[in-house]
Amino acid sequence: MNPILCVVGTRPNYMKMAPILAAFDAHVPPIPYRLVHTGQHYDAAMEKVFFDALGLPAPYANLAVGPGSHAVQTARIMERLDAVLDEVRPASVLVVGDVNSTVAAALVAAKRNLPVIHVESGLRSGDRTMPEEVNRILTDAVSDLLFTTERGAADNLAREGVAPDRIVFAGNVMIDTLDRHADRFVPARETLARGGCPDPEGWPARGFAVATLHRPSNVDAAEPLERLLVALDGIARELPVVFPAHPRTRGNIARFGLERLIDPARWLLLDPLPYFDMIGLMRDARLVLTDSGGVQEETTVLGVPCLTLRENTERPVTVSAGTNRLIGTRPEAIAGAWRALRDEGALAAGARREARRPELWDGRAAIRIAEALWARRTRFLGAG
Ligand code: UD1
Repeated sequence: MNPILCVVGTRPNYMKMAPILAAFDAHVPPIPYRLVHTGQHYDAAMEKVFFDALGLPAPYANLAVGPGSHAVQTARIMERLDAVLDEVRPASVLVVGDVNSTVAAALVAAKRNLPVIHVESGLRSGDRTMPEEVNRILTDAVSDLLFTTERGAADNLAREGVAPDRIVFAGNVMIDTLDRHADRFVPARETLARGGCPDPEGWPARGFAVATLHRPSNVDAAEPLERLLVALDGIARELPVVFPAHPRTRGNIARFGLERLIDPARWLLLDPLPYFDMIGLMRDARLVLTDSGGVQEETTVLGVPCLTLRENTERPVTVSAGTNRLIGTRPEAIAGAWRALRDEGALAAGARREARRPELWDGRAAIRIAEALWARRTRFLGAG
């Protein structure tokens, strides 16, 4: 048997890869693998704290590609990963999600005629201006085995000509991680106190919202970022907003001179939070506002109302079966959606409804992935 080369590069990859590697270790017999980190994310707050908390093994190699344009980042990963593949000689390459590291690794493997395994296949926003959408389409096009998180993904793949026998509906590995660590979530009051909140007991008691923003279309130009911060400030006047900001978003707030919109009496601007702190914060919030994909999924399982500040979502099951509402980025739409939730009592203390779990978001997705790979071991593990 040869190992499966597993590739991570960014913060949302770690929560997806951790349960897969744990399932490979727990499989009888164990499924051999090697982990490679591309180094796309490199700040300790975006990388090391997640590796440690989630129990990911030290990577066999770190390609240390760092920041750069999409082309530079992708090209560097491709070059450096090619060299690692010469050394490791894996039977196949496994990638997760939709970031630049995902597509770069998938392309290198496909060019070497190595089977590509993609976890979180078939999600489509329909918006090709989103870098992740391009990454999803290209990764799926060169993948040999495609694991999906929701039923609709197989229809998207069928439309793109993927044969049904290459698609396996496995469920959501991100939720495996959420379930596995449920007893380690940090209560919001601790995170608020550590972050310098003026009233770390009062905010959770009276209610607070959590916001995350990092989509380039929302934060890379002054106008949309300012518009969103003003809209969020309208909410903050009634429900203080805790805002753990991505390093790029934080940098842009400073660059565009927008700090003046963040009044510390009703906003708490934080650095990116460790996983257990972030999930604990969302669990204890009355409302989450986000443009992240993963947060739409996590709030669904936590049962917390989520307003998604985008025009589309590649994760429609979080709307049809979860707590997510897709409201776009117009200030009137944001204000209207927040008022509607407030007026229907959804934001009151104790108003949380039972979380509804989409099909197969049951904490066992990675086990199904390990089993599916073992059943196909001739191809994906080079086993006789
Ligand atoms: C990437 C993913 C995005 C994912 C997000 C999660 C792509 C195309 N985008 O976006 O899908 O939702 O990760 O966080 O792959 N930076 C730091 N420190 C870091 C990482 C980034 O300061 O550890 C700053 C740098 O200025 C860097 C910029 O953020 O140039 C952009 O980072 P990059 O990895 O290119 O994309 P993200 O915006 O993080």
